[in-house]
Amino acid sequence: MSVNIVIGTQWGDEGKGKIIDIFAGEADVVVRSQGGNNAGHTVVSIGEVYKLHLVPSGILYKNTLCMLGAGVVIDPKVLIGEIDMLQERGVSFDNFKIDPRAHVIMPWHITLDGLSEIARGASDIGTTKRGIGPCYCDKYERSGLRIYDLTHPEIFREKALSVGKLRNDIITKIYGEAPLNLDEIIDTYIEYGKKLLQYVDDVSVLTEKALKENKNILFEGAQATLLDIDYGTYPYVTSSHPISAGVCIGTGVGPTVIQKVYGVAKAYTTRVGKGPFPTELEGETGEYIRQRGAEFGTTTLRPRRTGWFDAVIVRHAVRTNGLTDLVINKLDTLAGIKTLKICTHYIKPDGTIIEDFPPALEELTDCKPVYEDFDGFDEDISGCRSFDELPETAKVYMKRLEELIGCKVSFIGVGPDRTQQIVI
Ligand code: GDP
Ligand code: IMO
Ligand code: MG
Repeated sequence: MSVNIVIGTQWGDEGKGKIIDIFAGEADVVVRSQGGNNAGHTVVSIGEVYKLHLVPSGILYKNTLCMLGAGVVIDPKVLIGEIDMLQERGVSFDNFKIDPRAHVIMPWHITLDGLSEIARGASDIGTTKRGIGPCYCDKYERSGLRIYDLTHPEIFREKALSVGKLRNDIITKIYGEAPLNLDEIIDTYIEYGKKLLQYVDDVSVLTEKALKENKNILFEGAQATLLDIDYGTYPYVTSSHPISAGVCIGTGVGPTVIQKVYGVAKAYTTRVGKGPFPTELEGETGEYIRQRGAEFGTTTLRPRRTGWFDAVIVRHAVRTNGLTDLVINKLDTLAGIKTLKICTHYIKPDGTIIEDFPPALEELTDCKPVYEDFDGFDEDISGCRSFDELPETAKVYMKRLEELIGCKVSFIGVGPDRTQQIVI
């Protein structure tokens, strides 16, 4: 029996989907606990590429129970589209469940996400505009609509009409935009509810049952530590808790059952959307990494910002997630760079050394990253399957990286495919 979490340690897109797909080969159950279709998880299996936004990355294994927990926010149109697309490619949904407590992303959430970004002007967050923030706002304001409501038409009609009118007031009176057609929306969403009803079940109860049967359970993180609403670079964050503690809240299990927490990082750093990024590279090397690593967003196709590996943020992730193991993906992307750099700590103009990631942006603005340099490697390492096969310079880089973050590196990614992984 194993009960493990896979979580992002940087600003997302670390290759969590790939790792979850690999681990899911041994898992009986895969559960997602937070976020929505702001996530984009890429899985490459025998040359086939799957881009998943809501459905857990364990779905490619026929017998694995895949579930969306109470903490996930669900756009039913997107979910149905994803199920249809995967079913057309032969993926089975016989073992797929959604918790009735999960909140529903409504069209007004998407509209308001877009409008509030425009209203923020130059200080926009750079959200995915999928309605994530406004949906979580309604949840915490206690006016959200849940999957339970969606799948009970009469309850849904009444609640959606009431909250929809209020949201239309904001759209028209605050933003001066045209109101949404509530009757049309409600009719369409009731049809979505009918399609999703077959999947609705209590994820907390099903997970407990699996625990009692000594099954292998994997919790799939979306987004990442530095996008966490409390421990990320607020306000340039998402609206949920991508850190490991969010798993318990978002799936309805207690913390005592968790055995291992795997943090996933890239061998460098990327970020989509706005917000601080101390080790960002703006010149030729940044572009080289973007092109070689195909660093373009899975969800919004935006070019990802790229930079050196930042040990300060990953140490922050080790602490806030209680990581037991680290996975470093995309080491292969760094091939061909003459000198590699790792940020070991930050320094302030008055000489103060910062080793722990600061809690406020204002504290971060005058922090400068301090780097250690490493000789790069030119070899194509995508065929390496053991640490010993790596070029000597790549070994030195990885060993020092492990030392700086203070957490055991258990896997190194050398390519996007399931098989392109070094197990240590
Ligand atoms: P996620 O959101 O954390 O699941 O990551 P994404 O799927 O958004 O982005 C990671 C990208 O890197 C995907 O295109 C993966 O196929 C790819 N990838 C993952 N691991 C590796 C690796 O070790 N090497 C290379 N070259 N690509 C990788
Ligand atoms: P995965 O799971 C990278 C970023 C957005 C934006 C901020 C807030 O693929 O790693 P939101 O739409 O959530 O309100 O946007 O968070 N963001 C991600 N960046 N990977 C993700 O997910 C992300 N999900 C949200 O770009 O900066
Ligand atoms: Mg992604």
